[in-house]
Amino acid sequence: MNGRLDGKVAFVTGGRGGIGRAICARFVREGAHVFAADLTAAGTLSDEADGSHFIRLDVTSEQEVRAAMVRVAERCAQLDILVNAAGVEIEKTIEETSLAEWNRIFAVNVSGTFLTSKYALPLLRKSGAASIINFGSYDGFIADPGLAAYCATKGAVHALTRAMACDHGPEGIRVNAVCPGYVDTPMLRGFFGGQRDIASMEAAVKGIHPMRRYGTPEDVAHLVNWLASDEARYASGQLWVLDGGLSAQVQQLRL
Ligand SMILES: NC(=O)c1ccc[n+]([C@@H]2O[C@H](COP(=O)([O-])OP(=O)(O)OC[C@H]3O[C@@H](n4cnc5c(N)ncnc54)[C@H](O)[C@@H]3O)[C@@H](O)[C@H]2O)c1
Repeated sequence: MNGRLDGKVAFVTGGRGGIGRAICARFVREGAHVFAADLTAAGTLSDEADGSHFIRLDVTSEQEVRAAMVRVAERCAQLDILVNAAGVEIEKTIEETSLAEWNRIFAVNVSGTFLTSKYALPLLRKSGAASIINFGSYDGFIADPGLAAYCATKGAVHALTRAMACDHGPEGIRVNAVCPGYVDTPMLRGFFGGQRDIASMEAAVKGIHPMRRYGTPEDVAHLVNWLASDEARYASGQLWVLDGGLSAQVQQLRL
């Protein structure tokens, strides 16, 4: 095989979600040994059908995260790539958000990224050329109305990404965040699900993108694959927005 990730070992949280699944499939095609960690293996693929090894994991549980890294260490001498893609969204203003919901979304999106990175670090250090890819969002820079807690978690992930890059760069570990706009996944479908006329909603959303479409999980996997590879060896501490140009434009009435 002559893949970009030949011989590398990767651990992907949210590995059975829309974006995580595309990343796992791409990494496998590029020659990596891939652990897909998620709450359930649910979906159209069986546990190993995409060539990745499924690990059941709740990223909010310190005990489970620690145990998952022990399992990786039992099978592999090192870890080269960690992707923190597990995430949830709450569509509410802060007034509508309960403290339990606020704590829950921070537990998954922020503490999950913290815990998985913390317990992966001893294995990542052994790589000598490791890459952590966190999932921020364009919502960490600008706000979508009605997503207050979600926006706050993504801003936290952005800050954490920069801090981790500073702390662990000298150990040969690069840390970046991918910050997508709209990507066609179960999360986006859930967001559209509340609308009465989904077809018009989709057309309207595509219409505000300069590229006149929203992203696919494979679009995201292309960028993640590059960040994971040695071609990105000088890329660290950055927030990589991938949104079809959405956040580049001022929203004006189209005449
Ligand atoms: N889809 C988008 O438009 C979009 C835009 C910007 C950022 N993102 C981010 O990209 C990442 C992936 O999102 P997606 O669109 O693929 O969503 P998705 O809902 O399809 O997948 C998310 C996955 O995370 C898993 N997960 C949730 N809680 C978990 C937990 N406690 N432990 C382990 N796994 C857990 C879910 O089971 C699911 O498989 C998320 O961090 C999301 O915030 C998505």
